[in-house]
Amino acid sequence: MENLQNLKFENIDGIVHLTVNRPDKLNALNIQTIEEINQAFHEIYDNPDIKGVILTGAGEKAFVAGADISEIADLTEVNARKFAESGQEVFASIENCHKPVVALVNGFALGGGCELAMACHMRVATANARFGQPEVNLGLIPGYGGTQRLTQLIGKAKSFELSMTGDMIKADEAKSLGLINYVTETKEEALDKALEILNKIGSKAPVAVGMVIDCINAVYQPDENGYQTEANGFSTCVKTEDFKEGTSAFLEKRKPVFRGE
Ligand code: COA
Repeated sequence: MENLQNLKFENIDGIVHLTVNRPDKLNALNIQTIEEINQAFHEIYDNPDIKGVILTGAGEKAFVAGADISEIADLTEVNARKFAESGQEVFASIENCHKPVVALVNGFALGGGCELAMACHMRVATANARFGQPEVNLGLIPGYGGTQRLTQLIGKAKSFELSMTGDMIKADEAKSLGLINYVTETKEEALDKALEILNKIGSKAPVAVGMVIDCINAVYQPDENGYQTEANGFSTCVKTEDFKEGTSAFLEKRKPVFRGE
């Protein structure tokens, strides 16, 4: 991908390493960065050679310290709604991407940063990571899906507490609340863990992986019947060559080779 100012896009052996790259602003998400994330996920969705994504922040201090407060400060009532809706759309495209997306959270994941991490399918964090929704300190609430996804992940009582106090929590507490999957000491270990997860998923049938993502996301769509989504996904999988390969390989006592067809 070309012409990205605030995002690094590196495809290494089919895993995209996507890095929000504004370390002097603690990787705060301005509108340009959100638009670049949008472009990146279109490419990721469409490119069959990409099997997964690691999303992280540049530098040692922050994953993403929130939406860019210098842009938020100028919002009006009308464009604030548009700001929230267009960001929510981009974050939904991460959540609905048919390739697994792991957030590698190094340092602060606050406000829009916590929301960005939560839009990913899984989260691996370093011990120095800090999570929070501090928007109330600005006279604001989360706008990129934070009230919804935080509640889905950690339950209503803790979501109320964190969103109304604006408190930050450490990685260990985030793990015990179910906000993140793993905590590691160093960024290298977090990267190894994220790669281990993605390479394991990368050895499975891609269509089935995409259907799992649709079905689990359906749990949180009030207008969608998730059981119906599951039955549709189940029959979609049965149409694939990979289903024939997976079942034949089992019966022939060999390892399957999936082709995404
Ligand atoms: N938007 C815009 N700029 C931000 C930012 C944000 N969300 N978060 C940090 N920055 C900028 C700071 O303004 C500063 O820029 P400067 O050097 O040009 O002055 C730079 O990043 C470093 O931040 P600084 O505050 O000096 O670092 P710190 O270590 O003292 O504090 C935080 C770190 C994360 C606690 C603090 O930056 C903070 O509270 N950020 C805002 C978090 C927030 O409210 N996010 C939700 C936004 S909706």
